Amino acid sequence: MSLAEKIIVVTGAAQGIGAAYARRLVEEGGTVVLADRNHEGAEATAASLGGPGKALAYPLDVADRGSCEALAAHLGGAHGRVDGLVNNAAIFSTIRMKPFWEITDDEWDRLMAVNLRGPWLLTSVLLPLLRASASASVVNIGSDAVQLGRSGYLHYVAGKGGVQGMTYSMARELGEFGIRVNTLSPGPVYTEVARETVTPAQREAMIAAQALHRAAGPDDMSGVLAFLLGDDSAYLTGQTISVNGGLVHR
Ligand SMILES: NC(=O)c1ccc[n+]([C@@H]2O[C@H](COP(=O)([O-])OP(=O)(O)OC[C@H]3O[C@@H](n4cnc5c(N)ncnc54)[C@H](O)[C@@H]3O)[C@@H](O)[C@H]2O)c1
Repeated sequence: MSLAEKIIVVTGAAQGIGAAYARRLVEEGGTVVLADRNHEGAEATAASLGGPGKALAYPLDVADRGSCEALAAHLGGAHGRVDGLVNNAAIFSTIRMKPFWEITDDEWDRLMAVNLRGPWLLTSVLLPLLRASASASVVNIGSDAVQLGRSGYLHYVAGKGGVQGMTYSMARELGEFGIRVNTLSPGPVYTEVARETVTPAQREAMIAAQALHRAAGPDDMSGVLAFLLGDDSAYLTGQTISVNGGLVHR
């Protein structure tokens, strides 16, 4: 149980990969706060997680400063510190593919407020609690859609490119406090949630192009996340870790 005693916040943990992250971190002994805009879903997921650690749901909109501050106040009162922050919440499965010139200003702004400003905002607001930890680790969830230059959802690709760049600078600014920051960058991952950002033909073509010719599931990501949050990765910061079955190389 490498994460025993650690207080870890996972945003966007109601469903999909975030729920799998929460499950794995509880199995590793962590106390995991599932923070999602879909609070009912997060509560249901938290209730389903048995294991050595604990799972608790708390409502959060990462695009809203007041909501981030309410989470910080709760965590400060309950635990006094945060050892792990997983900035996983994003507008993703609800995206409909379209040429970039048809993306509306509102769609662009809303996505950036959640996917790019959100990780910056929540990390900033939780910083005093991260500094109170002896070994804090922040993991920003990127996407290899950036390396692939995937088409059909350019605002998403641009936002995740920003997350990757932000991680490099955050790692430098937080190194003096002993806080590590890395990007976990998944390739295509297939969850219980239907989505329209990949067609069946694209799915098969990408699996064929991978070195490992099988589709990734959420559990292919969660062990890498546990490693990045644990003390075995104590000297690893400012990196992008692609988990893509060998689809693209850096
Ligand atoms: N599934 C993939 O193929 C894939 C590939 C690369 C990267 N990713 C990234 O992995 C992460 C999880 O992906 P997923 O497939 O589980 O996505 P998903 O769309 O199924 O889940 C996203 C979760 O984030 C929550 N959320 C959305 N807006 C929020 C907000 N403003 N505040 C708080 N919570 C909010 C949703 O309620 C949901 O629970 C995302 O960052 C996504 O971009 C996914």
